Amino acid sequence: MKIAVTGKGGVGKTTLAGALAVILSEKYKVYAIDADPDMNLLGSLGIHQPITPISKMKGLIKERTGAEPGSSFGEVFKINPTISDLPESLSTNYDSDGKLKILVMGTVDKGGDGCVCPASVMLKAILRNLIIKKDEMVILDMEAGIEHLGRRTAEAVDLMIIVAEPGLKSLETASRIKKLATDIGIQNVVAVINKVSNSMEEKFVEEKLGQMGVDVLGSIPRDDIVVQADMEGRPLVDYPDSVALQSISKIAENLLNNVPSN
Ligand SMILES: Nc1ncnc2c1ncn2[C@@H]1O[C@H](COP(=O)(O)OP(=O)(O)OP(=O)(O)O)[C@@H](O)[C@H]1O
Ligand SMILES: [Mg+2]
Repeated sequence: MKIAVTGKGGVGKTTLAGALAVILSEKYKVYAIDADPDMNLLGSLGIHQPITPISKMKGLIKERTGAEPGSSFGEVFKINPTISDLPESLSTNYDSDGKLKILVMGTVDKGGDGCVCPASVMLKAILRNLIIKKDEMVILDMEAGIEHLGRRTAEAVDLMIIVAEPGLKSLETASRIKKLATDIGIQNVVAVINKVSNSMEEKFVEEKLGQMGVDVLGSIPRDDIVVQADMEGRPLVDYPDSVALQSISKIAENLLNNVPSN
């Protein structure tokens, strides 16, 4: 199963993606991919040593694509670099059993629209490999824009989860993402409502999502333990009393019951 988590900045994408990845890795092999420019998935899993994102691995990008990252316009380089070994070799293990591996993609400076620079080609090829070729479960922590996904890769995404919170701003972003996702060929788009304080808020968001034709997979309450975990730099799964974690566990169960695996 290949899952992409998106939504407006600060809604809780990384919190959800990180906790889901750990929970699902109890049963499956999982790749958690940080494809957000902010790059804090590792931190949210309690891993704080500095990691070079793939987009900044100049030597590797040159070796695989035949071109310097960010270099000349019109330079000839391989559009289909060989990268199938990289998800394994470049990932960080969450713990010693190696069932959860984390990859940090980094960002590509865009030189105008539709950048086809070597770094971008590498990142896209790695995502394509993980989503189309690999059997492992994949959880992508993404920004609201989904341009890293080419059409063929997008079509292989089983589920896109848009995280929304009570407030029109995140819902406007959700609506934009829903449209982008549909345009690019992602079939299943659902929402998770985060930071819910009461049923009035939950109903408000649910209704707006309903108007967009987006079903709600689950809700996560506003929970001080999420903030505490963030302050202590530890993964949310270390706090079994967290009501947010308990809701995410339910969401994980729903996921496994409802989405066809292939
Ligand atoms: N259920 C919750 N209850 C309370 N605080 C929360 C909850 N979910 C997330 N937060 C807090 O909101 C902030 C943003 O969360 P998170 O980093 O997961 O969002 P994000 O969407 O990944 O943000 P960004 O767009 O910056 O990557 C964090 O400080 C986190 O602790
Ligand atoms: Mg994030």
